[in-house]
Amino acid sequence: MKCRICQQEISSFMSYGKMPIANGFLTSEQLASEYFFELKPAFCEHCLTFQIEEQPDPEVMFHDHYAFFSRTSKRMQEHFGGYATWVFDNYLDGKDPFVVEIGSNDGIMLENFAKRGIRHLGVEPSANVAEEARKHGVNTVVRFFGPETADDIVKEYGHADALIAANVMCHIPDMHGIAKGADSLLKPTGVLVFEDPYLGAMIEKTSYDQIYDEHVFIFSALSVANMFGPYGFELIDLLPQATHGGSMRYVLARKGARTVQPSVAKILTDEKKAGLHLPETYEQFREKCETSKRELVAMLQAEKAAGRRVAGYGATSKSTTILNYCGIGPDLIEYISDTTPIKQNKFSPGMHIPVRPYEEFKNNPPETAVLFAWNHAEEIMDKEKAFTESGGRWIVHVPKVRVL
Ligand code: SAH
Ligand code: TMP
Ligand code: ZN
Repeated sequence: MKCRICQQEISSFMSYGKMPIANGFLTSEQLASEYFFELKPAFCEHCLTFQIEEQPDPEVMFHDHYAFFSRTSKRMQEHFGGYATWVFDNYLDGKDPFVVEIGSNDGIMLENFAKRGIRHLGVEPSANVAEEARKHGVNTVVRFFGPETADDIVKEYGHADALIAANVMCHIPDMHGIAKGADSLLKPTGVLVFEDPYLGAMIEKTSYDQIYDEHVFIFSALSVANMFGPYGFELIDLLPQATHGGSMRYVLARKGARTVQPSVAKILTDEKKAGLHLPETYEQFREKCETSKRELVAMLQAEKAAGRRVAGYGATSKSTTILNYCGIGPDLIEYISDTTPIKQNKFSPGMHIPVRPYEEFKNNPPETAVLFAWNHAEEIMDKEKAFTESGGRWIVHVPKVRVL
């Protein structure tokens, strides 16, 4: 394949096999016609970008019945409150500032600007989640962000002080379009701020479940600098985040327009120490994925042999990679509990494990729960004290397969 960033020829270092759409929960009528592609990660030695070889068309993943609503997590609501305040305090220094968010989903971040009376616009292609944002007073346009969208926004609203995003940049294959869009949309001192699951954390924790159809890239500071450099942007700050199992917030501005913080040099050095620029690192990562798979399957088989009922906790998009790569189906996991209505009473992508409302977990708990929503562990452990105290077992696969 050609690298999406630098156009050099590169090849994948492993395959997770046949994969369905990670958020593609199915009704029984849809089971027979499910869409599959091969999930193969690749690392580009030239521009240091981690990416997947094949990505389904965006319209297959983002549409009017998109299953992911950001508001389901209380902790994420707090997180976005903090993110918005930080943007407000640090970067909205001009008069009558204007903020644009890419992938604003149900308005979880922008409502914090709306409440402060700040001019804002969410760009969100999934109509159902955009509708929810509007209910929260968030001005939203149902579109994919790209150079044309940026031009239309400038015509209608003028240039922006900040173009912000979370957990969406890594979804967008055309980063050149994003960089061009940012360049036309932002004022001379405007900032581009985004956070996404971090390659450094994924390598450290073998959290290979970050790799799925939507995540065409897993970024590092090294790769982000290479992506935006040609468009006149430089990294001015880097802020590691605990969200989604380890993320990074990247702050970019036009070269020379703003002070570069010491975090930038520090994290770039740390990434080299961790070998994020070396192909060997990804060979080792492949071996660790294979070990993780063997251990998880063996552990679930042992639960079954011991006669314990096992349920999944959180029908996360990440769990689609684990279940399909490890070949774990309803024979090993009876059902997956999830609080999101649109996922409930459907079947999990690929392996077709029933997804049940949370009430089922509460009223008829299994003996063992597999924590697929491991990135929300703290919130869930708080909530599930009764289950744990009555002897309920938790299986987690990150950073190592184990019973908690
Ligand atoms: N920012 C939210 C939502 C992340 S999910 C959060 O962090 O929780 C990613 C969202 O980005 C989805 O709602 C999806 O519909 C949207 N999206 C995907 N591609 C996009 C694009 N090219 N432009 C704008 N939004 C996009
Ligand atoms: P995420 O890992 O992509 O944020 O998705 C988390 C999923 O887990 C989402 O479908 C909601 C579900 N979930 C629960 O069922 N219970 C919970 O307590 C939490 C925090 C999430
Ligand atoms: Zn490249």
